[in-house]
Amino acid sequence: MIQNHPHSDALVFFGATGDLAYKKIFPALQGMIRRGNLDVPVIGVAKAGWTLDQFKARAYDSLEKHGGVDTAAFTKLSGLLRYVDGDYNDTATFEALARELKGTNRQAHYLAIPPSAFETVLAGLVKCSSCMGEPRIILEKPFGRDLETARRLNRLLLRHFDESAIFRIDHYLGKRPVNNLVVFRFANTFMEPFWNRNYVESVQITMAEDFGVQGRGAFYDQTGTIRDVIQNHLFQVLCHLTMEPPVRVDSESVRDEKVKVLKAIPELNGSNVIRGQFRGYQAEKGVAPGSRMETFAAIRLEVDSWRWHGVPFYIRAGKCLPETYTEVVCRLRKPPAILPGDGFGKNYMRFRISPDVAIAMGMTVMSPGDSLRGEPVEMVASRQAGTEEMDAYERVLRDAMAGDATLFAREDYVEEAWRIVEPLLKEETPVYPYEPGEWGPKEAERLLPPGGWINPIVNHEVPQTGPVELVFR
Ligand code: BG6
Repeated sequence: MIQNHPHSDALVFFGATGDLAYKKIFPALQGMIRRGNLDVPVIGVAKAGWTLDQFKARAYDSLEKHGGVDTAAFTKLSGLLRYVDGDYNDTATFEALARELKGTNRQAHYLAIPPSAFETVLAGLVKCSSCMGEPRIILEKPFGRDLETARRLNRLLLRHFDESAIFRIDHYLGKRPVNNLVVFRFANTFMEPFWNRNYVESVQITMAEDFGVQGRGAFYDQTGTIRDVIQNHLFQVLCHLTMEPPVRVDSESVRDEKVKVLKAIPELNGSNVIRGQFRGYQAEKGVAPGSRMETFAAIRLEVDSWRWHGVPFYIRAGKCLPETYTEVVCRLRKPPAILPGDGFGKNYMRFRISPDVAIAMGMTVMSPGDSLRGEPVEMVASRQAGTEEMDAYERVLRDAMAGDATLFAREDYVEEAWRIVEPLLKEETPVYPYEPGEWGPKEAERLLPPGGWINPIVNHEVPQTGPVELVFR
């Protein structure tokens, strides 16, 4: 939802030699160039003792490993890249940055660094008037680790920036299928009559990953599943599923509706969660021996709004599960039984977000043959292979530089999200072990959605199809 804002005239990214830059930022920059969305200086800042040539070599290497090098786009990127080497505590680093920024006014400063370094970098920027014309600030999650630290961070940011200049990245909002939840709901008249407490029996959202902490043990052990993906990514998915239609499509009207959803969710406590930890986690580098950090969580919550009162929502996420996929299943209430047999009346809506993308509706038809039996079928409204042309990071960076805040978490949203999970995070609840490759601990069944958890088989063979396909299967 691009609106008319002045475009940033330089992109500065702190943490330029780090992991995020290597895996996500360089590929996003190349993508932006290919689509004509980047034509300003890109200045990496880090303390690695590197030269500009080494920095460019790192960019090349990153692209080779993550998505491939497009020679023309890389040549252009290479021409835009600058590098400032220095400590974030050192004024000289910011003076060197100011020299690179000469002639710019609307800089986008992207903090691709651990939150512990936010304050230092902000202080350095604020002291450097030539680094800050009318800047934007882009931040990576986590935005604090509880309500108090989130508030402190927000206060710090708001002392120097207007909220409209702050872009808090939740890369899930850069995923088209996550945004399509909203579009699909509001672009189709047939959805509205049943998309409420009268027809929806329960909703389950699963984000399963078949890998562990991938060398991020130290980070993960301070974070855990609830902070890492539930409080942010999966709450965004939940908001898209449950929000009211925005009165306008400008960024604030859309974000207002999402905050309203969170306001309607009562705080969670230990009775709303089952936590798990995969066996072997404690042997990961950076993980404390005897750690009680969860690598799996299942939670139950309610959205106590007019539309959703009484409908239970279940969110489940974890590492080292049997598959990697994110999916939402909304079960609809059963009609009164006028026909014998069990098979009748099982209806649901299914939204597969990744790795492949699908929107489908489960329904019952009469099974072939003579007997009066029901058979479940699924009508697939849309199905695509998961490889998106534009990566989530490219989309969010493009929008931040264009000044469109729609896909970013607003201050009040972040604080509401922490309010919901904070009591749960502060409570000591059991952490049940599970074997890698299992669907979390068996205790998760204590928090069973009506009809049970759905553990679908991921179709790795989904063909690339046209935009809309209508098939019965
Ligand atoms: C990140 C989490 O925010 O999202 C990771 O820190 C998680 O733990 C990742 O694996 C999942 O994102 P995606 O886009 O790969 O599904």
